[in-house]
Amino acid sequence: MVTNTRRAARRRGEPDVVEVNPVFARPGEATSVPKFRMPDDESLPSTAYQIVHDEAMLDGNARLNLATFVGTWMDEYASRLYLEAADKNMIDKDEYPQTAAVETRCWTMLADLWHAPDPERAIGTSTIGSSEAAMLGGLALKRRWQLARRAAGKAADRPNLVLSSAVQVCWEKFCNYFEVEPRYVPISLEHKVLDGHELEKYVDENTIGVVAIMGVTYTGMYEPVAQIAAALDRVQESTGVDVPIHVDGASGAMIAPFVQPDLEWDFRVERVASINTSGHKYGLVYPGLGWVVWRDVESLPEELVFRVSYLGGDMPTFALNFSRPGVQVLLQYYLFIRLGRTGYEAVQRASRDVALYLSGEIAKMPAFELWNDGSDIPVFAWHLRDGYTENWDLYHLSERLRTKGWLVPAYPMPDDLTDLTVQRVVVRNGLSRDLASAFLADLAGEVEYLDALTGPMPAERRRSGFHH
Ligand SMILES: Cc1ncc(COP(=O)(O)O)c(C=O)c1O
Repeated sequence: MVTNTRRAARRRGEPDVVEVNPVFARPGEATSVPKFRMPDDESLPSTAYQIVHDEAMLDGNARLNLATFVGTWMDEYASRLYLEAADKNMIDKDEYPQTAAVETRCWTMLADLWHAPDPERAIGTSTIGSSEAAMLGGLALKRRWQLARRAAGKAADRPNLVLSSAVQVCWEKFCNYFEVEPRYVPISLEHKVLDGHELEKYVDENTIGVVAIMGVTYTGMYEPVAQIAAALDRVQESTGVDVPIHVDGASGAMIAPFVQPDLEWDFRVERVASINTSGHKYGLVYPGLGWVVWRDVESLPEELVFRVSYLGGDMPTFALNFSRPGVQVLLQYYLFIRLGRTGYEAVQRASRDVALYLSGEIAKMPAFELWNDGSDIPVFAWHLRDGYTENWDLYHLSERLRTKGWLVPAYPMPDDLTDLTVQRVVVRNGLSRDLASAFLADLAGEVEYLDALTGPMPAERRRSGFHH
């Protein structure tokens, strides 16, 4: 981390040690352990366990976290598998060939789910999350473009990528780390998502691809992939420039196949070269899993694939990491088998029903106006109605909800709508209708509290909440 938490803790007057609860400390053991320096002596496993357990308990309550997309609950069979396979290293395909085989089965299933013309000719991999998957998708686009440019005897040193101003930060990282010029298409009240409007102004012969987001992080809305592809068809007709699409389906690629099966956003759209998703979001697995799949082997330049000899085996890999846990891949396979298509559909539809119920109730409250209603992925955002109050804003409401345990971030929209503050709810499996009613009651209660103020709340503590 960049911040020095030690200095910050000092400023707050916190001690540099963790006290050991006397109930657990054994005779002769230290009564405290240093926080920022490795202790000189050993502790008993039970004492060390208790210290870490007590620290972790201070984290928020995941069930009341309406900010994150990431899975926080799996059933007891998954927990059993987790414990059994916690030691598996995904990269060690020679030692764990079965885990490697399961990985291949999983991305082949995804290629099929996303309508690859021939899933057996598709290619894919697991990753640590959508961020790594997006980097790999972006790298493949860049290398394909470079190869084509060089083959045509043209310069290949100024690649650009066209994306919405509302992309997730992983795309900003990709462009920064891999030296690709980002061309952000700003969102507006008329064009709430990247929809192909004026795309010809952003695309040129140096464009390696266009990113279309299925489930914009800020709001949950889908970008119309087929419409973006049609705009690129028009660009190709007039300029000859042929630009592929990468779909960032971090959330939506595990929602649309079940909830909107007729929506054409995936490999049915010919321009779509690759798709990523987060196994740990609506794939319903614990944190640490992403997927990326390419339409066919030609879409992933062979020269990006490393064939390393490892522990005597020939191992093709395309990844940014080397070692990483393999257990999440097994958990994904468990869920694919356990739920099947009908099970996933039931789970995702239940989340969407709760999202529609919540957004419907919030729309009735005079303080708010909906940005969207959660009918794409089960995520929606709202803003304060124009002129409703001078005394409080959504940051204050977010803080008030925190006192009840609810994490509901407020944040500014991206360019060109940075003056607009929204608040967002992510409905995940486990947010039942009952829990949603409890949230609505607390939301109404906190709005009533803020409405009763006779003067404005202080503005200086406004802080945008975690919303990625
Ligand atoms: C659209 C989108 N892309 C990428 C990411 C990054 O995903 P991960 O956290 O799996 O790296 C997110 C995370 O919220 C997202 O919403």
